[in-house]
Order: sequence, then C-alpha cells, then structure tokens
Amino acid sequence: MTDEAAAGPQPVRAPRFGLSGKLLLLTILFVMIAEVLIYVPLVANFRVNWLRDHLEVAKTAALVLEAAPHGMVPDPLAKKILASIGARAVAMKMGDTHYMLQPSDVTLPPVADVFDMRSVDQFTAIIDAFKMMFSDKKDVMRVVGPAPMGGEYIDLVMDERPLRTAMLRYSGDLLLMSLLISGFTAALVYLALHYLFVRPMRRITDNMIAFRADPENADRIIAPAVRADEIGTAERELAAMQIELASMLHAKNRLAALGLAVSKINHDLRNLLASAQLFSDRLAKLPDPTVQRFAPKLMQALERAIAFCQSTLSYGRLQEPPPDRREILLEPLVEEVHETLHLGPDASIRWISAVERGLIVEADYDQLFRILLNLARNAVQAMESRASRDPGRDQIRITGRREGAVVVIEMSDTGPGFSEKARAHLFEAFQGSTRTGGTGLGLAIAAELVRAHGGEIRLVEGTIGATLRLTIPDRAVELSAHRGARAHG
Ligand SMILES: Nc1ncnc2c1ncn2[C@@H]1O[C@H](COP(=O)(O)OP(=O)(O)OP(=O)(O)O)[C@@H](O)[C@H]1O
Ligand SMILES: [Mg+2]
Repeated sequence: MTDEAAAGPQPVRAPRFGLSGKLLLLTILFVMIAEVLIYVPLVANFRVNWLRDHLEVAKTAALVLEAAPHGMVPDPLAKKILASIGARAVAMKMGDTHYMLQPSDVTLPPVADVFDMRSVDQFTAIIDAFKMMFSDKKDVMRVVGPAPMGGEYIDLVMDERPLRTAMLRYSGDLLLMSLLISGFTAALVYLALHYLFVRPMRRITDNMIAFRADPENADRIIAPAVRADEIGTAERELAAMQIELASMLHAKNRLAALGLAVSKINHDLRNLLASAQLFSDRLAKLPDPTVQRFAPKLMQALERAIAFCQSTLSYGRLQEPPPDRREILLEPLVEEVHETLHLGPDASIRWISAVERGLIVEADYDQLFRILLNLARNAVQAMESRASRDPGRDQIRITGRREGAVVVIEMSDTGPGFSEKARAHLFEAFQGSTRTGGTGLGLAIAAELVRAHGGEIRLVEGTIGATLRLTIPDRAVELSAHRGARAHG
C-alpha cells in the first residue's frame, strides 16, 4: 500500500490561483489594451496640435515681417523672435511677395522632413507621429501652414527634437494615467465580481467539500440563499440533491443494518429449528393416531424452514438462490398452502381451489409454495382487517390453467382491495405495507421469486377485492428435449 493510499483521500485545498486572482489580472490586462487603443490616436493628435500651435505663434512673427521696411528685420530682433517661436527660420508668401525671417549670419542645415499642416489625414498623422517618436536623429523639419490675412502659406524650419521630447513626456503621462485608471477599474470590477460570484461560488464549493466528507450529517446540507439568479438556483438544486442523497444513504444504512440483523436471526433460528426437528422426530415415534397424522406435516414444515434459513444464510444477501425447477403438480401444492393457512372447513373464509386437473407447472416447489403462501396470507389478513366483515361471503379463490407454454395462476379475494399506498409501492420491499406489524416484504419476495422463474406478477384491475395474476412460463431451453422425451416415453 502506498503512503497516499494509507492516508486516504487528500483533503481538497482551495486552488492557489483562484477565480479572484485570475479576474484581477484579466481586468487589468483588458483595461490596458483599451488604453493602448486610445493612446495611438491621442499621441498623433498631440503632435498635430503641437505643430499647429507653433504655426500659430509664427503667424504673429509674420506680422512683424510684413510691417518691417522692405520686409527686412535686423538680425538681433530676428534671433529673438525666432528663439521665442523655437524655430530656425520663418518664411511667408503673400501674393507675389516672399518674406523671410532668418538672421543673415546663420546657414540652415538640410531639411529632412516636410510636414504640410494644411491637409492632414488621421492615418498619416499616426504614422508620422510614431516615426518621429522612434527616430533618434537630430533632424530639422519644415512645417507648412496657412498664412494669415489671405497669404498663401507660412513656412517654419525647426528642430525635431523638442517635438519628440514633448511627445515622449506626453506618452509617459498617459502611461501613468492608464495604469492608475486600469488599476482603479480593475479594483472595482474585481470587487463587484468577487461579491457577486466568487464568494457565493466559494461557499458552494466549500459546502460540497464538507458534504462529501460527511454526507450523512444533515448539518452539512447547504442552506440556500434567497437569490433569484443562477447562483440561487444552483444553491437550491444543490440543497435538494444533498437532502435526497442524505435520505438515500440513511435508508441504505438502515437496510444494511437490517440485512445484518436478518442474517443473525436466521443463523440462530436455524439452530432452534434444528432442535425442534429433533423433538418432532421423537414425537413421530409415538403411536397416538392424531400425532401420527400431524407429525409428518410438522416435520415437513420444519425441514422447509431449516432449508430456507440455510439458503438465505449461505446466500448472504437479500437475494434468492436460483430456482431449482422441476415438473410439479400444482393442485397438491395449492392444497398444502391451504393447510398451512389453517383455514378449517368451518372457517369464516372459504377456500376455493379451481386448478385444472393434473396441471403441471415447471417451478421450484418451495419457492412457488412461498409465493402462494404470501399471497394467500395477505388475502386472509386483508379480509380479517376489515371492520365490517361478511363471513358468509369472504372467500379466497385460486385458479390455475395452462395457456400454451405458460401456466397462469390467479389468486383473488373478496377483501377491501389494495389501498392507494399499497398500489403506489407495489412489489417494493419495505415500502408498501399498510398493516400494523407488516414489514412490506411479502409481495416483494413473491415478485422476486416469480421473476426468477422468468414469469410475471401483476395486480388485475376491476375486480371485487384483490386479484393477483402470476404467469410461470415453461423453461425455454429444455422445451424440445422435454417434448421429445414425452413423445418417446
Ligand atoms: N389481498 C390483498 N388485499 C388488500 N391489500 C393487500 C392484499 N395483499 C397485499 N395488500 C396490501 O399490500 C401491502 C404489502 O403487502 P406485503 O405482503 O408486501 O407486506 P405486508 O403483508 O404488509 O407485510 P409482510 O412482509 O409481513 O407480508 C399490505 O400491507 C396491504 O396493504
Ligand atoms: Mg404480506
């Protein structure tokens, strides 16, 4: 035996990375994805606006240019204006005139990119923004925009670096912001889901684990929450299932205990019957004629009882041994049932046997005897239990006939008939008894024995009192051999 097997089933631990943790991570991830999708157009817009703002400022400078005599501005002033705009040069075209704001002692480096802000489409704006952010060259760009006062255009030459720095700072701010937002959203979603799902879910799983460990303990049955949603339904269904299971287990245990008790009783009963048999043996030797008449019957009854105890014991379970089927005459068997019932000729219940003369049935004698005795006892008890009795009318009638390869036996009485409860649990062990002192086994045993013969037992509807019909088919396998033997014999 391994150590694990010796330790029995391992207790179920709560999963290390449960629903809550997964939910938290997923929410953060999804919010981040959403933020990235928003970030792309935002950063493109930021760049466009930054450039437009600079063009706007440049326009003011352009006004100075226009006002200056011959469009010429002294170098120190030009440098100051350009520094305030953050540009290396500004050019403007008004009608046919070109104005240029550029200190005479400065030569412009070659321009790497030209951006015309008069027509910007979103897609190019996004591409340009990312290109600019991820290039680390110290390039110079030309930015073209609409000129003031009906001019044709205004032109700015400036370094790309300040724009890149601004964009990177903006992105950093956005990233920080999105982290905060996603953390906050994730926390909200997490809390909501935790209280709505995870906690009730954990309650259900904890309860399942606890119930499984001790299913017979009624305290472990979940008390369903008053919720109209799916979780409420799950809890109610679970509770119903647990209640059913617990009661089934309870019934099973009772049956098991009963089975054990029956085996013990059987065991000692067999010993007692054996000693009774010894006494009846000695009794049979007495010459008294009455004793001589009854002793064989007594011995037969005792023998049968001992054999029955023995077979039940050796079989252990509440199951019958397979029938030992032989050809038997039905009439004497029915007569023996009658005698065992002790209904004398002067009894208040009449016994009518209408079995076809010489009817042979292929059955286990003892088992068929038990079947009929159970049915007949029930009939007697049913009639005797009735408050208003009609002794003149009470009767048990038993018929037997052959229909092809099947023997049909019917037992009917003039009692009160089957009650609703008895009908509802017909042929179920321990369920259908309505009699005080009844165990509710008689019909179940009879049905089991009939089925072991390949036959059927059922209640016939629409009769006065109760009528039970049982069919015992001949053995199919040996049918031809049997016929052949008869023909030759
Ligand atoms: N002939 C009958 N007429 C009316 N009711 C009957 C008849 N036979 C059986 N019943 C009903 O069916 C129930 C079940 O019968 P069953 O023989 O299985 O159990 P029981 O007679 O109560 O107990 P026991 O195990 O001692 O036979 C009876 O309690 C009775 O209510
Ligand atoms: Mg009975």
